[in-house]
Amino acid sequence: MSQSQGDALNVGIESIGIHLPPLAMQVEELAVLRGEDPEKYTVGLGCSQMAICPPGYGVVDLASEAARRALSRWDGDRSKIGLIAIGTESAVDMSRPLSAYVAERLGLSGGIRSYEVKHACYGGTLALRQATEWRMSGVGGDRAALVVAADVALYEEGDPGEATQGAGAVAFVIDEPEIAAIERETYAYSEPEFDFWRPVGDRFPTVNGKLSLDCYKRAAEFCFRALLDERDPEKALQMFSAICFHVPFPKMVRKAVLRLGEAFGLTAEKIIDLFERKVEPTMLWNKLSGNAYTASLWISVASALQGLSPGEKVAAFSYGSGFGAELVSLVAGPRAKAGAWAADIESDVANRKLITAQDYRTLRAVPRPA
Ligand code: HMG
Repeated sequence: MSQSQGDALNVGIESIGIHLPPLAMQVEELAVLRGEDPEKYTVGLGCSQMAICPPGYGVVDLASEAARRALSRWDGDRSKIGLIAIGTESAVDMSRPLSAYVAERLGLSGGIRSYEVKHACYGGTLALRQATEWRMSGVGGDRAALVVAADVALYEEGDPGEATQGAGAVAFVIDEPEIAAIERETYAYSEPEFDFWRPVGDRFPTVNGKLSLDCYKRAAEFCFRALLDERDPEKALQMFSAICFHVPFPKMVRKAVLRLGEAFGLTAEKIIDLFERKVEPTMLWNKLSGNAYTASLWISVASALQGLSPGEKVAAFSYGSGFGAELVSLVAGPRAKAGAWAADIESDVANRKLITAQDYRTLRAVPRPA
């Protein structure tokens, strides 16, 4: 089969690093503070814990540590890095890219193309696709790329989105497909919309929550239709061992799967089966991070890849408000089985402090830069 027919190419993820910040809070604590029934958050939204940054700790720390971990697991020489692309919507500067802050911390400089990518939660996927396509194009020779998706998601206090907050970073070295090959075929969709946005100078996003749910579902339907083409949806979806989604909150993903199932004519029983077997298990780590914007999908993908045998496939649906979406396929390589990067989540979760509603109130009162 030719490359254009969809074969996995010899380009992909060679190492993964993940980092969650040192604090977290159960969403039940927030419910007490906001006078809500905790089940609205745990059942209605499907949330569990939100990862939180302490004062003075932010996206540079998250991105740098995830990148450091990914590089430490990579067999290659750092001089082989020819591209650093970081997706974020928590940028600390309107000019200087986050990649420069990370490169500084990691001592990376030289003949490297280094930049930041912004498109709400879709920015990490764009960075990954650009790095992959750069490598596939051959312009960088056999040099490797460092890709990071990192964010701190904060809503205004009392905003309906507050229970979905989170933070985290995932970094990939794009080189040989030891952990997963990234397929050339990719299915994108975009529509200009104001579903969630944060104008320059605003500390928190403005959200049209209900509209954002519709946009997300519409984008998912388009991308999956494009992937399935004329094939039998049930059989085609069975090709994937796991189907990962951007996780703004777990119930959103359930809603999207219901929409896909209905659109593709699956019975209610088959839709639930698909969700429970291939989708829900990929969100375990997301329930520990909350919405980490650009990193959310890739936290789910990192979780899904661990333990897979070579050749098993993973679908990854990315959504970013504004809005843009893309459905990417990955094929597990020989190092997926060992899932070395799971240690990052295990140690960060074991070492982080669970804070109370009172601690959270105090923390929110500390001024943060816009
Ligand atoms: P809301 O409007 O306050 O919540 O906030 P609601 O009234 O719709 O309730 C939520 C669910 O809880 C409902 O379930 C209720 O029935 C249920 P549903 O009908 O949807 O199945 N519920 C309860 N369940 C059990 N016990 C109870 C109870 N009470 C209610 N007592 C909203 C919800 C999503 C609008 C809000 O959280 C929000 O604005 N979130 C932020 C926006 C968002 O996450 N959108 C998702 C798609 S857009 C996206 O993913 C991009 C994004 O990541 C940003 C980016 O791209 O950069 C956000």
